[in-house]
Amino acid sequence: MTLPLSLPGTQDKGMIYPALLPQIDSLFKGEPDLIANMANLTAVLKEAFHFFWVGFYLVKNKELVLGPFQGPVACTRISFGKGVCGSAWENKKTLIVPDVDKFPGHIACNAESRSEIVIPGIQNNKVSFVLDIDSTRLDDFDKTDAFYLQQIIDKLMQYSEL
Ligand code: SME
Repeated sequence: MTLPLSLPGTQDKGMIYPALLPQIDSLFKGEPDLIANMANLTAVLKEAFHFFWVGFYLVKNKELVLGPFQGPVACTRISFGKGVCGSAWENKKTLIVPDVDKFPGHIACNAESRSEIVIPGIQNNKVSFVLDIDSTRLDDFDKTDAFYLQQIIDKLMQYSEL
């Protein structure tokens, strides 16, 4: 495990994500605990990108329940199909929402959140959790985030026991 995090001296996320991948790999290596790996991953993403809120919701029975996160206090439970997180769970797809006010049914845990990306963690065609990242800026997420965050989620599931 590599400590502390080493970040390139650039604001270009197309360069930051590739620099993070091997470090995330070594953080997860030899650690099978899902919650421990989720917790460290939220810290890595917060430190690298200063996201307003980054965290996990885990599928438990018929709800998403708040897991490890970094940022302001958040809603603890989200129903299937509700909000951006519940929709990503229902559709089994990454959702990029450029303006949360235009997303029908968006759950406003915090009024400062303006745009959002949610990536579901899927194994055997079942969603186990979602990664939710919120920004205070409009239109803050794009295909670059979706591409690298998907790789990061794949790593998380590959190393951790679900
Ligand atoms: N905005 C989310 C709820 C979770 S919080 O933002 C942390 C949603 O609509 O799913």
